[in-house]
Amino acid sequence: MLELPILQNPKQDTISLMDSDIPLLANQPLLYVETYGCQMNVNDTEIVQGVMHKKGYSLTNTPDNADIILINTCAIRDNAEKKIHERLNHLKYYKKKNKDLVVGVLGCMAERLRENLLEKELVDIVIGPDEYRSVPELVEKAFGGERGIAVKLSRVETYDDILPFRTEGISAWVSIMRGCDKFCTYCIVPFTRGRERSRAYSSIVQEVTSLYDAGFKEVTLLGQNVNSYMDEHSGNNFAELLRACAKAVPHMRIRYTTSHPQDMSDKLIETMAEFDNICKYIHLPVQSGSNRILHLMNRTHPIEHYYERIAKIKELMPGCALSTDIITGFPTETDEDHQATMELMKIVRYDGAYMFKYSPRERTKAWKMGDDIPDTLKISRLNEIIHQQNQISYEINQQTIGTIETVLVEGPSKKNPLEWQGRSDTNKTVIFPQNENLAYIVGDYIKVKIARATSATLIGTVV
Ligand code: SAH
Ligand code: SF4
Ligand code: F3S
Repeated sequence: MLELPILQNPKQDTISLMDSDIPLLANQPLLYVETYGCQMNVNDTEIVQGVMHKKGYSLTNTPDNADIILINTCAIRDNAEKKIHERLNHLKYYKKKNKDLVVGVLGCMAERLRENLLEKELVDIVIGPDEYRSVPELVEKAFGGERGIAVKLSRVETYDDILPFRTEGISAWVSIMRGCDKFCTYCIVPFTRGRERSRAYSSIVQEVTSLYDAGFKEVTLLGQNVNSYMDEHSGNNFAELLRACAKAVPHMRIRYTTSHPQDMSDKLIETMAEFDNICKYIHLPVQSGSNRILHLMNRTHPIEHYYERIAKIKELMPGCALSTDIITGFPTETDEDHQATMELMKIVRYDGAYMFKYSPRERTKAWKMGDDIPDTLKISRLNEIIHQQNQISYEINQQTIGTIETVLVEGPSKKNPLEWQGRSDTNKTVIFPQNENLAYIVGDYIKVKIARATSATLIGTVV
């Protein structure tokens, strides 16, 4: 999954979360949550906001006037954690201004560093990914001057009964499972998010249906490894869940992420091919093109299996877009291993890739393998694969020139507010002219004829 920058979605400055049936707290403390890391964290933030909503808290999208600042963190690579330490240092300024301010650390870094985080004077509470029901209690205690920590991992918690508080009305994230049992040797996630567990099938289908009824246009089913989804009661697997969702909301786009190649079944690919509303885009992390490295990473499959899965996808869905994750500089990686990755990228021809240099994580198996690839070599290999991928993305995007894409309108472009942007079925950002006669609004599906393309975006006119 991809790391996201700070999320500050709400359109207004302060949003009242008060429904008429929710008890009001005397002074209605204002909560501000900042999110780092993957989409699971984005959805977890909505869950925390949902929990706090029920208790009568109001939300703000700026730390300036907040009574509580929560930072939902990521521990995937060292630089992700560095960024959060820096942010925590900045927050000292707010605490100086308001000594009653409560500061909390949530998420994967909270789970990894635990009480060590309380050594920072600034931090009042530390809460791991499976303890979000206890946020209100710990916050209340912190208002009374008591610092607190809750970091137990659970085998059953899925927050199935909690309504996430969503601030954007077009595209929704829905977690269908939590945790990961794969234990790739480089990865901290099994330690920060605990064992794999799936949410109930019927409640997911119900949530997707009510999102449609509430006007959402697109839903993304989330998990570290959605392909190993299994509903304990009905015995339904991920392909069956996807089919049920696609049938329940035929006019809504459905996406999912992330898949593990080992569990990418024929049935799943067939289901994707069968339904028009399941987007033709698959994020299928490969990590390396070398069998020796895949084995050391405990990816549990040889590269031949990966090629065979890609061939199946291309056979059943010729236009399907593909992306991947790649790590450079894993312990002992040779030039030959690196060349195997370069080769793989040329054969598969991904539409896009998320590329990282290896970052050793304490407690993982790879930590004990040492970190023998010098940083300069990790970086030069990384640059090589980034350069090659940009070239491939550019070439693939050139082929869309002249075609007509169905685009879900998201609103003004981030780079140039005079242009608008949206997303194609294949998950590409599409830029088109600003809407002058209100012919289309945010959330509409429109047809765009592509005139130009870069490695990252398609640019066209509305037809
Ligand atoms: N569950 C998802 C990925 C979660 S982490 C999956 O298996 O696909 C997202 C990506 O971060 C991984 O795919 C991997 O490429 C990268 N990553 C994870 N741990 C890393 C580490 N220690 N150093 C560098 N990259 C890492
Ligand atoms: Fe990490 Fe591997 Fe699990 Fe993905 S599948 S979260 S990379 S252990
Ligand atoms: Fe996600 Fe980062 Fe945790 S990628 S699962 S927030 S370590």
